[in-house]
Amino acid sequence: MVIETENLKIGYQDKIIVDQLNLAIPEGEITALVGANGSGKSTILKTLSRLMKPKSGTVYLDGRAIHEQKTRDLAKELAILPQNPTAPEGLTVLELVTYGRFPHQKGLKALTIEDKEKIAWAIEMTGIGEFANRPIDQLSGGQRQRAWIAMALAQDTKILFLDEPTTFLDMAHQLEVLELLQKLNAQEKRTIVMVVHDLNHASRYADHIVAIKKGEVMKAGTPIDVMTSEILEEVFGVRSDIIYDPRSGQPLCLPYGLCEDQVYKIST
Ligand SMILES: Nc1ncnc2c1ncn2[C@@H]1O[C@H](COP(=O)(O)OP(=O)(O)O)[C@@H](O)[C@H]1O
Ligand SMILES: [Mg+2]
Repeated sequence: MVIETENLKIGYQDKIIVDQLNLAIPEGEITALVGANGSGKSTILKTLSRLMKPKSGTVYLDGRAIHEQKTRDLAKELAILPQNPTAPEGLTVLELVTYGRFPHQKGLKALTIEDKEKIAWAIEMTGIGEFANRPIDQLSGGQRQRAWIAMALAQDTKILFLDEPTTFLDMAHQLEVLELLQKLNAQEKRTIVMVVHDLNHASRYADHIVAIKKGEVMKAGTPIDVMTSEILEEVFGVRSDIIYDPRSGQPLCLPYGLCEDQVYKIST
């Protein structure tokens, strides 16, 4: 396990969102966090990547408490693509990707050959070369998302956190992002932790799925362990049938209706 949490309590001001969370992220695998809107996925991801400090409890990275490490040291270990990242107006794609090298630079020195190589590699991997000199705010949603992923890649960390990396993308661009993450995982053994809404994407691309409900882990395991009608009903309040993908053998869910208490909630 590359990341483990011990009794995490996380909240905003007086509101506790997560209490006593014990979660383990396997090294070198793709983990998908799934759960309803507002269940605490982003809050958990931000705490694992140290953007948020827990009220109590500990996040361990390779056995060391992350909230006691230096920001710059940690930024060489893990990168995060937040849910709704914003860039300063007029910032170009290349400038954004270059920011990814910041934790590796010493003072205000010019970019090293290694920095330049990593930036070029990130741009190549994400296929954003043709608009590298355009401002981020003038790109389409899909182009912009890939530019942010490139920034996280340029940081060259062994762990990559992505909060809804496929939201706003059309089907082809969703697959493109997921295939890219799969390639980074397979070829470079990077640990990937992503929040995804499409359960069938989670099943196909993740080795490990963590289903979150109201800040708690309802179930964690392989897609076969987690993608069951009972768990989907419990976590999402949706009735579904599970079938098996003829190509991969992985479970797929076919939602067909809301559970009765959910119908009641929506209709009143
Ligand atoms: N900055 C914030 N201040 C106060 N409450 C917040 C803040 N961000 C999120 N929340 C609350 O925390 C809960 C979990 O949110 P979040 O982690 O964003 O869920 P998810 O990513 O699963 O949709 C929600 O009830 C949300 O309203
Ligand atoms: Mg979220």
